[in-house]
Amino acid sequence: MSLVNGDLTTARAAVADEVKFDILTESQDADNEKARQTVARCFVSDTITVPTKEMYLYASRASLGDDVYHEPSTIALEAHVAKLTGKEAALFLPSGTMSNQIALRTHLKQPPYAVLCDQRAHINTYEAGGTAFHSGAHTYPVLPSNGHHLTLEDIESRIILDRNIHYAPTEVIALENTLNGTIFPQDEIVRISEYAHSKDLKMHLDGARIWHVAAETGTSIKTLCDPFDSVSLCFSKGLGAPIGSCLVGTKDFIGKARWFRKLFGGGMRQTGPLSASAAYALTHHFPLLPRVHALTRRLEDGLKELGVRITSGAETCMVFFDATTLGISFSELVERAAQLPEPIILGGSRLVVHIQTSDAAVDDLLSLVRTLAEEKKAAGFVPTDTTTNGHSTNIYVKVKPTSTQA
Ligand SMILES: Cc1ncc(COP(=O)(O)O)c(C=O)c1O
Repeated sequence: MSLVNGDLTTARAAVADEVKFDILTESQDADNEKARQTVARCFVSDTITVPTKEMYLYASRASLGDDVYHEPSTIALEAHVAKLTGKEAALFLPSGTMSNQIALRTHLKQPPYAVLCDQRAHINTYEAGGTAFHSGAHTYPVLPSNGHHLTLEDIESRIILDRNIHYAPTEVIALENTLNGTIFPQDEIVRISEYAHSKDLKMHLDGARIWHVAAETGTSIKTLCDPFDSVSLCFSKGLGAPIGSCLVGTKDFIGKARWFRKLFGGGMRQTGPLSASAAYALTHHFPLLPRVHALTRRLEDGLKELGVRITSGAETCMVFFDATTLGISFSELVERAAQLPEPIILGGSRLVVHIQTSDAAVDDLLSLVRTLAEEKKAAGFVPTDTTTNGHSTNIYVKVKPTSTQA
């Protein structure tokens, strides 16, 4: 039965009433201010960095196109990132995971095949097995024998080049830089790349945090990307943009990747403000990274001084530690940090410093470790000599606090 005139108007108003939704709480501004303070004291990841008002102001002036057709600000960002990385083309994507997965899907054509990577790599550990799902590829994880980065020798001994039908032949070598905050030596990358290309293999870089390598070493982004056929770069981690990654490669490669992005459901529409946020982050946040790295080193030095074992040093924005040398377990530290009057949020053995981390958060964390160490000593714990501990590969030990986090 169809409604007419007044009835229809009333019915439409009723539907509009059901549909409408005010998402902002009465205390939203205050809540956001509190969230900013929480972020300044959170060492879990740099993905939790929040957009600033200045970034949003800049983003609100971006162009208004539809990215599946033509979005001027996004096209400008892609052109800039292609030039910066020395590649022919770039593609803006919603996440680093999609960027890595589409890169692999675009490189890999006909199974059986395998992707060789560091065992700790994001594509192996944190992408929900996406390489098997999206590309039907076997992932071949290798632990670096030096505990830091893969070498050509590590790779040569594990790579599968022959046509023995029992194996999935290696078709892509995927490296990550930084990996757990450590810098992959560029000369080793070049050795691996020359070898890979001599065997007709593709080189992909998960460069989610390549910005940190450039900021720390003063090496150009282009030089860092040169040995790779494709590179994924994220704006939403250390650079502090809300969303977005760029995948770069040849024109043909990016053309096919754009097709896969649509197929994967990642074709976005009014991406101008997102691209502008990324551009803002490149201009205003990239220069903040040296301060981040210096603060991470200060955190590492403070921990060392207290007798905490460092399992992976502060090369950029991360430090991995083990305070059991002082009798402090990970879960205990996470709990006590969450219970401070101004809580500190920790995730486990990995501490991530970011552009919004406050100096006070680092001081307060060190002071908490000092307090806990004194408590343990008073209870009879004899600290372990940290110098007698061997080197260990920085596997992330994750802990969730049982008490409520602020
Ligand atoms: C090294 C690395 N690569 C890729 C990603 C995936 O990025 P996203 O969370 O945007 O999917 C992350 C996420 O933190 C990462 O650390």
